[in-house]
Amino acid sequence: MLSWDEFDKDDGADIGGAKPAASVIDMSLEKLDKDGSAAAHAARAANPSDSAEVARAKAALDALDVAEGLAELEGAAARVAVDEKRMINCRADLNQLVPFKYDWAWQKYLDGCANHWMPQEVNMTADIALWKSNDGLSEDERRIVMRNLGFFSTADSLVANNLVLAVYRLITNPECRQYILRQAFEEAIHTHAYQYCIESLAMDEGAIFNMYHEIPSVAKKAAWGLKYTRSISDPTFNTGTVETDKELLRNLIAYYCVLEGIFFYCGFTQILSMGRRNKMTGVAEQFQYILRDESMHLNFGIDVINQIKIENPHLWDAELKDEATQMILQGTQLEIEYARDTMPRGVLGMNAATMEDYLKFIANRRLSQIGLKEEYPGTNNPFPWMSEIMDLKKEKNFFETRVIEYQTGGALSWD
Ligand SMILES: [Fe+2]
Ligand SMILES: [Fe+2]
Repeated sequence: MLSWDEFDKDDGADIGGAKPAASVIDMSLEKLDKDGSAAAHAARAANPSDSAEVARAKAALDALDVAEGLAELEGAAARVAVDEKRMINCRADLNQLVPFKYDWAWQKYLDGCANHWMPQEVNMTADIALWKSNDGLSEDERRIVMRNLGFFSTADSLVANNLVLAVYRLITNPECRQYILRQAFEEAIHTHAYQYCIESLAMDEGAIFNMYHEIPSVAKKAAWGLKYTRSISDPTFNTGTVETDKELLRNLIAYYCVLEGIFFYCGFTQILSMGRRNKMTGVAEQFQYILRDESMHLNFGIDVINQIKIENPHLWDAELKDEATQMILQGTQLEIEYARDTMPRGVLGMNAATMEDYLKFIANRRLSQIGLKEEYPGTNNPFPWMSEIMDLKKEKNFFETRVIEYQTGGALSWD
């Protein structure tokens, strides 16, 4: 482990036993500032040993206008007060992370980091043997594995692209951006996990990754999401009017409530059900970790949507509420169709009808989480075990395979 103990001894001059007066400290700090500034200035001076390239680099820096760079950041010269921070259309400097206004966003960032995992940590040996064997899996089970790897291998890229190419710049709060950056990395890990499964099982990579163009039930879900990315990813798009602020909200509802909140749930349930039956346990373990990440993405998105509503109540009018309800109902319908397509008959103790009940139960939750009326009254959860899996603690592996503790960084050495 890295220790700073040895570095303490020689640091700074010994200023003796008596505590210096505050004015003395101020003066010496002022002198340090002055000396430091003069030394930095002197370092820029032409030196006979400078090559022509170094001289050109120094000359280019002479022309740099520091004030001009900062002017692009509105209000950048000022320290940020917590009251100035806003979810969208904020004019305070976004490079200053603190003071925090939305503690929940920072907490989710910390929780996401604490849950870090990598796909290669999961043992895929049993899956490879089962996938290769002729009688290990039924045709229906193989279809489920293929379809889900096909959908998810590109779906997480759609989510990541939406985050970094569309949403990130429009969310004007640094602690939320910090979480979005963490989420974007997690989406990269998820795509990596699907790629790792596809490679381990020696599947036809081209067919799997292109499934979102070739298989209608997969293609429709992807196309539905992409429509919302397209509307706000134009570099000239900006929030600040009622219509554009609403457009951003529609995008957040599409991605957090529908894509991550509904479109993942049929596939997750199918693969995790397989794991519970001791089949494809490596793939199932990957999906289990992904589901845990996704449930945090979803909760973050719900908090962001609700906070935007609190700060901009005029946006959440009858028209947008109706649109949001329609979006969630459309998403549920597409997921029901995906369930029908992936399970033409009963498999793994479930069928398309029980999945439909589950999806309606999920849809009710999504509606109520953003303050809308439930549209499927009297629906129950046929798969209560799914919520237990989502609460998984890292040290308690659901399949009791092995205990995984992620090591944050190896031991550093300065030698
Ligand atoms: Fe993901
Ligand atoms: Fe996600």
